[in-house]
Amino acid sequence: MSPRPIIVRGGRLLDPSQGLDRLSDLLLLDGKVAAVLAPGATAPPEAEAMDARGLIVAPGFIDLHVHLREPGYEQKETIATGTLAAVRGGFTTVLAMANTNPAADSAAVIAWVRDRAEAGAACRVLPVGSVTVGQQGKELAPLAELAEAGAVAFSDDGQPISDPNLLRAALDHARALQRPILAHCEDTDLVGEGVMNEGPVATHLGLPGIPDAAEDSAVAEAIALAAFTAGPLHLCHLSTRGSLALLRIAKEQGLPVSAEVTPHHLLLTDERVLGQAGAGSLARYDTHAKMRPPLRSEADRQALVAALREGLIDAIATDHAPHAPEDKECEFAVAANGVVGLETAFGVLMRLVHEGALDLTTLVERLTAGPARVIARSGGMVPSDLASGLGTLQLGAPADVVLLDPEAEWTVDPATFASKGRNTPFAGWRLRGRVVTTIVGGETAFTIKR
Ligand code: DOR
Repeated sequence: MSPRPIIVRGGRLLDPSQGLDRLSDLLLLDGKVAAVLAPGATAPPEAEAMDARGLIVAPGFIDLHVHLREPGYEQKETIATGTLAAVRGGFTTVLAMANTNPAADSAAVIAWVRDRAEAGAACRVLPVGSVTVGQQGKELAPLAELAEAGAVAFSDDGQPISDPNLLRAALDHARALQRPILAHCEDTDLVGEGVMNEGPVATHLGLPGIPDAAEDSAVAEAIALAAFTAGPLHLCHLSTRGSLALLRIAKEQGLPVSAEVTPHHLLLTDERVLGQAGAGSLARYDTHAKMRPPLRSEADRQALVAALREGLIDAIATDHAPHAPEDKECEFAVAANGVVGLETAFGVLMRLVHEGALDLTTLVERLTAGPARVIARSGGMVPSDLASGLGTLQLGAPADVVLLDPEAEWTVDPATFASKGRNTPFAGWRLRGRVVTTIVGGETAFTIKR
């Protein structure tokens, strides 16, 4: 049954994919974008009118990097709870990372994820297949079968691919299959026993550090192999100035390389491990600031923001990594890596807009058209009903739309999250900018009362 038509009235239509930024009404019919109309234009009488005055109306956000944890880690998250968190954060499409249990290294697991998403996901779920069998980094997974089953990309994220011959082979396949390798670049030997960024804070806390060079050297190797194979390479969660310099060279040479950055690397530094202001000294060694790659220095943070602004970095991705309380309520050294991000991303990122570091159009671009390009660039947009494109409000595109209030203030309270993961470094933050309504395929998947 097709969804009831919706007319979104009086909003500021902001669609960077078309350079569109004006007050308009938007008509959604049969799950597709049907028309951009002058404000107050006549709409089909059966259409539901949605009041968007004072709001931004944008394409639904796309997150290239989400850990939904199913199958295998349902105590941390499920496809149902993770996608509920996604729509609360304005995301209408998420790529589901492959470090599940079993890993997504067989057509059966990819098919299972797709079936499960079909049955109970609140937004579109595009599965990512493992690069190696069991994510063990030893033997290539059957990438062609995974693509055939619906994997839109391949990744061993969580574990770097340490063997360059395997990465080379994977990029060769990626070229043939037209699906990118989403690479978690860290040299595990250089990471060693490190648990946070190597620098004065780690020294102060007496924690073993992870040097920038761990990421830089792995990024350099991956780029060299992308150049050699012409295989599509997407660099996950970049965190260092060195990586950005290498990315710049790769792009100047026209190599098939793209990159993402997370909200936490854009907003926080390694000082966050010392706890939040006012939290007292017991909050030191805050495991909610532990992730891979680690939070870096202020100079790195600023360089990431500048790279995002100029377009050197293509997309913002949350690396939503939910964990159970017991995974984080322990000594820093043994705590799990990762933070949740879907429900806080927009509000947190709006800080950059309000402080003048980023303009709103650029922010929306990096959450919509930017990530859409990363997938489409490699022809990996498999599902045929999405052929007309994600991350855009072009006529005929899927009716994936988000309504945003750039001024609404709210306070991050992990207890209210739809995600099972409460492991956020942003608890208690007062934010300005909120997702009001999320529409997926013409159906309202989330809305708050105003
Ligand atoms: O901090 C992280 N957590 N980084 C990763 O690459 C993996 C993720 C996870 O799966 O928990």
